[in-house]
Amino acid sequence: MEQTLIDNCEVENKQFIENIFQKVYGVSTEALNTDEALRSKIRTAVNKLREVHKNTATEDFIKAVYGDPDCRAAYMFVYYPYHVEPAYRVVSEHVVPRMQPKPIIKIECFAGGPCPEILGTAKALFENNLCEKLSINVYDYENGWFDQQRITAKICNEQKIFFKEFHSCQDYDIRTATAEEKYLNVKMYADTDIFLVQNYLSHSDNDENFFRWLSMLAGKAKQNAFFVFIDFKNTWSTFQKMCDDDFLSKNGLSVVSSHVSGYALKIKFGFIPVALFKNIFTGEGNFVRKYKTEYYFVVLKKSLRVSVFKEFSCLSDDDLEGCW
Ligand SMILES: C[S@@+](CC[C@H](N)C(=O)[O-])C[C@H]1O[C@@H](n2cnc3c(N)ncnc32)[C@H](O)[C@@H]1O
Repeated sequence: MEQTLIDNCEVENKQFIENIFQKVYGVSTEALNTDEALRSKIRTAVNKLREVHKNTATEDFIKAVYGDPDCRAAYMFVYYPYHVEPAYRVVSEHVVPRMQPKPIIKIECFAGGPCPEILGTAKALFENNLCEKLSINVYDYENGWFDQQRITAKICNEQKIFFKEFHSCQDYDIRTATAEEKYLNVKMYADTDIFLVQNYLSHSDNDENFFRWLSMLAGKAKQNAFFVFIDFKNTWSTFQKMCDDDFLSKNGLSVVSSHVSGYALKIKFGFIPVALFKNIFTGEGNFVRKYKTEYYFVVLKKSLRVSVFKEFSCLSDDDLEGCW
């Protein structure tokens, strides 16, 4: 029997979407009632975005869609508002209670696109007074997301979330990334507190590349760094492999928490602006409005195990600070 956990989103969806729409298009959603060119441009983009999530979408098609500026703009109200809350919940519940406050928290966000997961994560950290500023690196194979990432930074600032830095590291392909690439220097990774990967696995059909890449990251991460994986499609078999004892011990990782069963966690969302109903989400084919997010997650942690302590018994107290 399918088990479902349904939870209503506390965020006021309608106002949030209106705010984002205005930041992206410079007009309110009401403009859709009269501006035929805008309506048509957006409907074409929404149609393409929705095709990405069908099983027939190839990796080349997906890359082309994210390469299209109209599609990136539309992503901001089609998906972005629904992708903040999962990161907020996972980080609030499973990372925040295990972190100590510090002035700057450093986050690496992979396949971040416009980075709704940065907003969700930042809200969780700031609400709990865990830091004063964030230092962010976003890695994505599509360079054009920069404008949308600026919107994320702006929304964060409006919510009194501040950054020491917010870098967009370009041309980063998870499938082929190696430790030698220019932005992958040891210092960056060694300082990172949280590695975030949201909504990448459901776009990738190659587990081998993913696990090679994850081992590379784990090898560079500092002790106690968190790895947060969230996905919206049925990627739980990959998540289960990540929780495999052999994989974990080879890579010095442990499971903090996970939702890897065959059913998803669900968040229901409230209203959307009326003009979007009337003009974009008119109900047929690819134009059905999104009203819920289903997600799976795994949180891992880099942790010294007993055998590692033995092997590195010459480490000083400073090296081991904060380790259990
Ligand atoms: C569905 S979007 C997810 C964006 C954001 N993480 C979210 O949760 O809404 C997928 C992102 O992954 C990026 N992406 C897909 N394959 C990638 C790869 N092999 N390497 C790096 N980025 C990739 C795309 O450019 C896009 O920004």
